[in-house]
Amino acid sequence: MKGNITFTMIKPDAVADGNTGAILSRIEGAGFRIVAMKKTQLSKSDAEKFYGIHRERPFFRELVEYMTSGPIVAAILEKENAVEDFRKLIGATDPTKAEEGTIRKLFAKSISANAIHGSDSDENAYIEGNFFFSMRERF
Ligand code: RTP
Ligand code: MG
Repeated sequence: MKGNITFTMIKPDAVADGNTGAILSRIEGAGFRIVAMKKTQLSKSDAEKFYGIHRERPFFRELVEYMTSGPIVAAILEKENAVEDFRKLIGATDPTKAEEGTIRKLFAKSISANAIHGSDSDENAYIEGNFFFSMRERF
């Protein structure tokens, strides 16, 4: 699995705005293959667990509230060098700092409501993918 898998969520603001299709089109256009995908809504405990690493951060409550505010689309993506290439495709956390043409530059509203998530390491891609899907050996 190492190196060719990442995990993404299209976040509630982007789903609510009807940007799911446009975002998926950019993801596929950049060479990522959708291995697994589902639309679902996070419970408070799901969101607290998923973003547990940020538990002590000042924005944690706001983050959990936002991530549970509506449906999300979760997906496992495959491509060579997936984690790094996907972080480049989505752009900086703060959309005002994101490069032109990145998904966050195009679709994010703010540093909180920033349209999309991307795993930050191979290890987290595997953990996050397993949060939503049963990842088998082939990943
Ligand atoms: P993500 O995990 O969602 O892909 O985002 P990221 O790596 O670019 O950023 P990270 O530092 O992991 O933060 C996770 C999410 O928390 C929200 N956030 N809000 N108000 C704030 O200052 C702030 N900072 C971060 C964002 O939704 C961010 O994506
Ligand atoms: Mg992160």
